[in-house]
Amino acid sequence: MQHSDQSGKQQSSQAPGTLAERAVAAGAAFTKDVAAARAQRSPEGVEALRLSYLGRKGQVTALLEDLRTCSKEDRPAAGKAVNVLKQSIEREIEALKGEAGAWLVAAKLAATPLDIHLPVEPWVPQGSLHPVTLIRREILGEFRRMGFTVYDGPEIDYDFYNFSSLNMPADHPARDMQDTFYISEQEHLLLRTHTSNIQIHCLLNEKPPLRIVAPGRVFRVDSDPTHTPMFHQVEAFVIDRGITFAHMKGTIDAFMKAVFGSSMKTRLRPSFFPFVEPGAELDLQCVHCSGKGCRLCKQTGWLEVGGCGMIHPNVFEAVDYDSDAYTGFAFGFGIDRMAMLKYKLDDLRTLFEGSHDFLGHFPIFT
Ligand code: FA5
Repeated sequence: MQHSDQSGKQQSSQAPGTLAERAVAAGAAFTKDVAAARAQRSPEGVEALRLSYLGRKGQVTALLEDLRTCSKEDRPAAGKAVNVLKQSIEREIEALKGEAGAWLVAAKLAATPLDIHLPVEPWVPQGSLHPVTLIRREILGEFRRMGFTVYDGPEIDYDFYNFSSLNMPADHPARDMQDTFYISEQEHLLLRTHTSNIQIHCLLNEKPPLRIVAPGRVFRVDSDPTHTPMFHQVEAFVIDRGITFAHMKGTIDAFMKAVFGSSMKTRLRPSFFPFVEPGAELDLQCVHCSGKGCRLCKQTGWLEVGGCGMIHPNVFEAVDYDSDAYTGFAFGFGIDRMAMLKYKLDDLRTLFEGSHDFLGHFPIFT
């Protein structure tokens, strides 16, 4: 019969005793070899040990082969002894392999000593969601719950979508209220002044019934504590047969109560927007004084957040909709104004100054 050395090479020997006794002796030898490998702390030593016992020419493999020539009477006891030995060697080798990983890490750490005098990493702030993002998510969540679909559209747009198809032909005086930044006068390209341009993009691409909400950035030549040159609006509109002003009032009221709480009151004041008829200004009860009158609401008890009305038949005609068959309402309001009210800010411009002190007050997740 044959034995192998640590490298797995076979060696001849006339081993004494029965196969079962030789299995016990191999087990004892393995215990010594394991102790030596642990003392050496070498991953290569573990692999050599595995080959020496379990390799193709290893000791356990040789014992298994010898089982074939073993007498019938001796075979059950010998088979059991060899298998028990094999399983315990396999378990031990697996454990040693795990330890070998730790030896490697320890060796690497020992080679590069830790310098406790190195400066520690400065504290890295985690950041948080911008208040406009927080309120926009909340607004869209409420609209989705009411069955609206979110629609997106261009911030740089043609005069046609932003003004003329919305019943504001060139030289219409209402354009003065929304002075904007022109990209190219020849091509009639401009920064959109409101999200109402989405009405036209959507109507040209979709067919009623429609229940749409469209958030986005808009631009105007404006700057004071309640006006910024870039701000955010959200437009919502519903078009179908038989839509009335009452549907609009109910939708606005339900939406504002969902965002500001069930005691929130809304008010519509007659107003003029060329693309709606009739049109109204949309006010919320002042969040600071609950309608009693304060400095923020200029003692009126109300704060203006947007405009609304029934979509003008001229708008339907500009996009080839049958204005006898369909009616619809639309409303648009400032997201930043909503953030101002929700978070009780007194200057809209703080939203866009990028101050960490200010932005750090808002939660990271909602
Ligand atoms: C409009 O922009 C209309 N498109 C709204 C509308 C939609 C009317 C659909 C009818 C039907 P207005 O110019 O009033 O309307 O602006 C709406 C809201 O945007 C204002 O109430 C205010 O909340 C906000 N807003 C307007 N200008 C600024 C600004 N410079 N900075 C911050 N918020 C602004």
